[in-house]
Amino acid sequence: MSGRVPIESQRVDAPLTSSATFLVLSVTESPDAVKTVRSALANIDGLAKNVAIRDLGASFACTVGIGSDVWDRVTGLPKPSELHPFPPIEGAKHTAVSTPGDLLFHIRSERRDLNFEFEKQLLDLLGDSVKVVDETVGFRYFDVRDLLGFVDGTANPVGPAVPASILVAEEDTAAAGGSYIVVQKYVHDMKGWKTLKAEQQEAIIGRTKLDNVELDDAPTGQQASHKTLNTIEDENGVEHDILRDNMPFGSPGSGEFGTYFIGYSRRLWVIEKMLHRMYIGEPPGLHDRILDYSKPLTGTTFFAPSASILASLDSN
Ligand code: HEM
Repeated sequence: MSGRVPIESQRVDAPLTSSATFLVLSVTESPDAVKTVRSALANIDGLAKNVAIRDLGASFACTVGIGSDVWDRVTGLPKPSELHPFPPIEGAKHTAVSTPGDLLFHIRSERRDLNFEFEKQLLDLLGDSVKVVDETVGFRYFDVRDLLGFVDGTANPVGPAVPASILVAEEDTAAAGGSYIVVQKYVHDMKGWKTLKAEQQEAIIGRTKLDNVELDDAPTGQQASHKTLNTIEDENGVEHDILRDNMPFGSPGSGEFGTYFIGYSRRLWVIEKMLHRMYIGEPPGLHDRILDYSKPLTGTTFFAPSASILASLDSN
């Protein structure tokens, strides 16, 4: 990326920011809907520039994700090999719901006003070709904590491990340079969570609360922590990371306290395996105890194509 004007679309590895908007849209049946959407996506770079140039220090970035149901119509390109709608997961106690959504815009920067302005210009451009399914505004909470009080994002990959974990490569050349995205909007039962002692909360998460130190895994067969359930190895014992850019959201006045989960991955099966282990449990029956205090209101899967594929959509 050029150091002079740090504006680049589809930077799935954009830096952590203090504000983010998660916008999920559905494409309508209006006669020109697909054409309008395609043209807006192809020109997203220009739209981002309109806003980002107004404060280059604010790390503005927008990532666009496209859902499985509209992929063919909107892109006219081969479908990424793993792309399919979010499969609901029914555990004995908790269910990961699957909810609609054709397009995701992950809009981030250091300034809420930049994100707001971009979203306004974007929705003006899209007009009646889309309907808003969900709009969530997230904020950084102290030292990157979630509203449960824990530092969130520590185990994310860094450096060269970022593209290696999140960008599709030679395994699917048509989709190379893109990334699978799963989002889930969670609301927390803060009253219930607060009845737990700090040590009980730490055992659920798998890290200490104040100083964020990783705890040992529980012996095999016993209740595993959130951290352990989300550590995924393939059949060769190779660990696969994902990149999470979760953000707290909510409103104390209306009693809403939430975490917007967003995970980027080179392999969709890795995120789906995490969800399976959280909701069904490992061993089955011992689900992730974070779910006793966190309820998913949404669950949707997207694929963020590379910037060059996105820019080419107008010509397809
Ligand atoms: C209620 C929503 C959630 C909250 C509040 C939450 C919070 C946390 C916290 C505090 C940690 C430990 C620090 C860290 O490494 O980031 C963590 C780790 C992690 N979480 Fe979550 N999480 C949530 C949902 C999810 C979901 C739905 C997934 C996957 C589908 C997920 C995947 C992970 C992974 C991969 C790790 C790192 C595990 C490791 O140490 O290797 N989380 N989460």
